[in-house]
Amino acid sequence: MNAKIIGTGWQLPAYAADNDYLSTIMDTSDEWIAERTGIRKRYLAKKETTTSLATGAAQKALEASGLQPEQIDLLIVATITSDTETPSTACRVQAELGAVNAVAFDINAACSGFLYALHTADAFIKSGIYKNVLLIGAETLSKLVDWTDRSTCVLFGDGAGAAVLTATEKGGVTAQVTGCDGSRWEVLSCRGRSNHNPVCREESELGYLQMNGQEVFKFAVKTVPLCIEDVLKKADLSAEEVTWFLLHQANKRIIQSVAKRLRQPEEKFPMNIDQCANTSAASLPILLAQMNEQGKLHSGDRLILSGFGAGLTWGACVVEW
Ligand code: UT7
Repeated sequence: MNAKIIGTGWQLPAYAADNDYLSTIMDTSDEWIAERTGIRKRYLAKKETTTSLATGAAQKALEASGLQPEQIDLLIVATITSDTETPSTACRVQAELGAVNAVAFDINAACSGFLYALHTADAFIKSGIYKNVLLIGAETLSKLVDWTDRSTCVLFGDGAGAAVLTATEKGGVTAQVTGCDGSRWEVLSCRGRSNHNPVCREESELGYLQMNGQEVFKFAVKTVPLCIEDVLKKADLSAEEVTWFLLHQANKRIIQSVAKRLRQPEEKFPMNIDQCANTSAASLPILLAQMNEQGKLHSGDRLILSGFGAGLTWGACVVEW
């Protein structure tokens, strides 16, 4: 059995901050951000939370799938910005949706989170343990970034995307590759709570996201084409046979470089980075759901989903639509 996507949904906060607005609160410009990244605006949560965005996207995906919340066996939220350290966002979304029969947990694999979640879901479906799975990528990264660091804060945005999967005999997710190089964790990280137990009493503030942008850039343009080639080999497909390459929306220049390395036309690499910026684990499912909504995905299409991020982590999968 494979996992087949039968419904998608997306949700963004109501408030959008464009590059011109950011240039009024820090030393940056629309020209710098747009030229270096392709980003024109990003959505920032005011009242929304990771849980509310995740729930909104999930409700739409469920509606599109035709399944009832009680039919979901497994609910995974990929996020690095859970509203609560515990319980997981997935537990809270389970309650919001009334998905009372679902086992629920979060996955923290940063921008590769949705692919890690998809791999996990596919394994549970293949083993016969679960049949219907709800996957959500949801982030409110605006609370994690350092708004005094112009080299990172302009890159990220908030949002959520969701997909409902069910067991299928043919098609669906036909090949997956995921990987991690934990030795390079410091390239992109966010410090957590420090110890303050009675025998340690280490006092320090919670940290913000820190990134060596150029290292992440080099890692991405090298690793993403390699893992796509890997997954194509696993699926016995050539790049030419792929209809769409949906890549994590981190930087337009990274996506263009991957297209070039794979010798594929840029038109096969849809982008929404200009509108949404980098929404980490939410980036792939938002793009997928928007393309689905726009009627761009047809039965028999072959999709590659691929992403990379903190960890360092990466992944790619082949989906037969
Ligand atoms: O999901 C994964 C998350 N991360 C990524 O994918 C990030 C990957 N990396 C990148 O996308 C790029 O490295 C960045 C967009 C982060 C940076 O682009 P870059 O072309 O590597 O720029 P840079 O870091 O080399 O900085 C060039 C200049 C510097 O000024 P000087 O030293 O040349 O005078 C920066 O201080 O640009 C300056 N700069 C800015 N200027 C205006 C950095 N941020 C800004 C800014 N506005 N927001």
